Amino acid sequence: MEAWFIRSYGGQQVLEFGDVAEPVVGPRDVLVDIRAASVNPIDIRVRRGELRRLLDYRFPLVMGTDLAGVVIATGCDVRGFSVGNEVFARPNRQRIGSFAERIAVHEDEVALKPKSLTFEEAASIPLVGLTSRQAMIDLANLKPGQKVLIHAGAGGVGTFAVQLAKHLGAYVATTASAAKHELVRSLGADEVIDYRSQNFAQIINGYDMVLDTLGGDALIRSFDVLQRGGIVVSVAGPPDIEMTRDWPLPFYVRLAIRAMSWRVRRLAKQRQCRYRFMLMRPSGMQLAEIAALIDASVIRPVIDRIYPFDDVGAAIAYSETGRATGKIVVSRRHSPSPE
Ligand SMILES: NC(=O)c1ccc[n+]([C@@H]2O[C@H](COP(=O)([O-])OP(=O)(O)OC[C@H]3O[C@@H](n4cnc5c(N)ncnc54)[C@H](OP(=O)(O)O)[C@@H]3O)[C@@H](O)[C@H]2O)c1
Repeated sequence: MEAWFIRSYGGQQVLEFGDVAEPVVGPRDVLVDIRAASVNPIDIRVRRGELRRLLDYRFPLVMGTDLAGVVIATGCDVRGFSVGNEVFARPNRQRIGSFAERIAVHEDEVALKPKSLTFEEAASIPLVGLTSRQAMIDLANLKPGQKVLIHAGAGGVGTFAVQLAKHLGAYVATTASAAKHELVRSLGADEVIDYRSQNFAQIINGYDMVLDTLGGDALIRSFDVLQRGGIVVSVAGPPDIEMTRDWPLPFYVRLAIRAMSWRVRRLAKQRQCRYRFMLMRPSGMQLAEIAALIDASVIRPVIDRIYPFDDVGAAIAYSETGRATGKIVVSRRHSPSPE
């Protein structure tokens, strides 16, 4: 089958298009004919080899982590899906490869696609939907009336997280450049801070949660907006040891991880707050809940551009600018980008 893959880590030039082996369908896998996939910053990190200490990828490695498509075969023990089902998924890290014609995904990582969405719209959802849900519900236990700051509200994660936080009944502040304020307000943000001209940490305080999608200085300043007992959940900052508790890592990697987050953990302790790094995990069950919210018009996808399958390189290069508004999608039946 045709796919976009890499044979070594590196810059944009290592991405290749060509024939690769057909996916192997395990007993509990569904084989999906991919209609659309979406781009995420993780694709760039994988291509650059930034995760090589944590993930033991083999080459050629087919790229791409989000997909929507149609089930065309099922493993002998699959119970939840049948041929013809329209599905969406974020497969687990060892079995990525959605910039391809087909992919085999464990049935626990798949859900029926929201009925109200096109394949392109559905492919934009899994990674950012699961990330937002797991950060705000599973880790922070965000409750109605609580205050949350979501960094980069106009990004892929941000556009979903703002809507979900609003649905949970939270008061939502977010950061975005001025041209994107109208969009984030339309998604439900109560307070929008222009990160280019204002310091969010001097404007708001007494918050219960920060969803940090930026890391670095923004992560450090995030502790200034929390009230005692608040939590920063970061998807871009240094990993904490909690995250790797069940991972089969050598002790020196664990030590290195501990050292990386030392400063942030110390800051959290001083402020009597909590810090958690989060790595999104696949879940078909949670995707089904997300699909229900979308079909009930609680959450809508926000798509910046749709590229044809031939242009995956350009789609990833656009993501690499860090300026996308919502999601970047790759379609195997190209439709024009929304204005
Ligand atoms: N750990 C995990 O499981 C996990 C899961 C999902 C994502 N992530 C990470 O989360 C990060 C965000 O992902 P994403 O998909 O949302 O990225 P993205 O869509 O590429 O983010 C782009 C957006 O960020 C905004 N932005 C850039 N700098 C900003 C700043 N200083 N303050 C506020 N907004 C800013 C840009 O707006 P302007 O054009 O206005 O600057 C743009 O709209 C990435 O690092 C990704 O790797 C991690």
